[in-house]
Amino acid sequence: MKCIGVLTSGGDSPGMNACIRAVVRTGLSLGLEVMGIKRGYTGLIDGEIEPMGARSVGGIIQRAGTILQTERCEEFKTLQGRRKALRKLNEYSIEGLVVIGGGGSLKGALELHKMGFHVVGVPASIDNDICGTDMSIGTDTALNTALDAVDKIKETGSSHGRAFIVEVMGRNCGYLALMTAIAGGAEVVLIPEKEMALEEVAEILEQAYIKGKAHALVVIAEGAKCKTSKVAAYLQKEEVGFEVRTTILGHVQRGGSPSAFDRLLATRLGASAVQKLAQGVSGMMVGLIGSKIKTTSLEQVTERHKELNITFYDMAEVLAK
Ligand code: F6P
Repeated sequence: MKCIGVLTSGGDSPGMNACIRAVVRTGLSLGLEVMGIKRGYTGLIDGEIEPMGARSVGGIIQRAGTILQTERCEEFKTLQGRRKALRKLNEYSIEGLVVIGGGGSLKGALELHKMGFHVVGVPASIDNDICGTDMSIGTDTALNTALDAVDKIKETGSSHGRAFIVEVMGRNCGYLALMTAIAGGAEVVLIPEKEMALEEVAEILEQAYIKGKAHALVVIAEGAKCKTSKVAAYLQKEEVGFEVRTTILGHVQRGGSPSAFDRLLATRLGASAVQKLAQGVSGMMVGLIGSKIKTTSLEQVTERHKELNITFYDMAEVLAK
């Protein structure tokens, strides 16, 4: 193999740049030419492809986002779109591809592999919903961002004796919300994996008020069945003791300088992905399992979402007393 390509796809996550840097510099060290593909699979189909050198990834390890830019590409989901992508890969003499992204992007990588092209995937998503890795690139930073917001909100919450509802991202996965709740000391957490009736939420807050708590915190995952606006309206109506305010964190969780954990994870995964490609491995994803970087087939990784360890939910409940 003489030339590899790298692209980022789907929602960006902090640490993607650190991963691109590791891919480029590891590739160069192995004597490979490395091509950067812009805007994910869209740029691949459109031929937005440029050679990358060690200097083109200088000064980016601390930057969130992705210098290659990213997109969610509908055309690539079609056979015709993937054929166009393969034509471009051939046109640029690219023989192997590193795909950095979440579940949808890794499904795309699997399709290319099935068409006979060499691909290795790297899990990057703030949601931490990808099988085959304990942590995805960006999750730790997003969690720290959510936590920083929660810490600040609790300060104003205590001063006013208010209950705060904080909505965090995560798509259909409750990981970010649950970990934010545990590390941020929330009274209640609502996640897609576990339902709680509104009456119970109100009861917990009322008890917190009676116990003399200075504030109360409800963390809601964006994918929870009970939507944030509905919870807020119900708690206002029920007059639980605390005044209620709501903050939706949104895309702020996708920005911010990647944490040390994410930079190291992204670097290890990026380097490993290139080493695997150079060894002729394809159709695999590199991931962190325990403290080691291991490979899992893209087939296995993409057949379902990672299950949340629900014992953490019980822990959150115990600690909220
Ligand atoms: O998958 C990452 C994520 O940030 C989810 O948490 C969220 O549901 C979604 O992407 C938001 O997507 P978009 O950036 O397209 O609004």
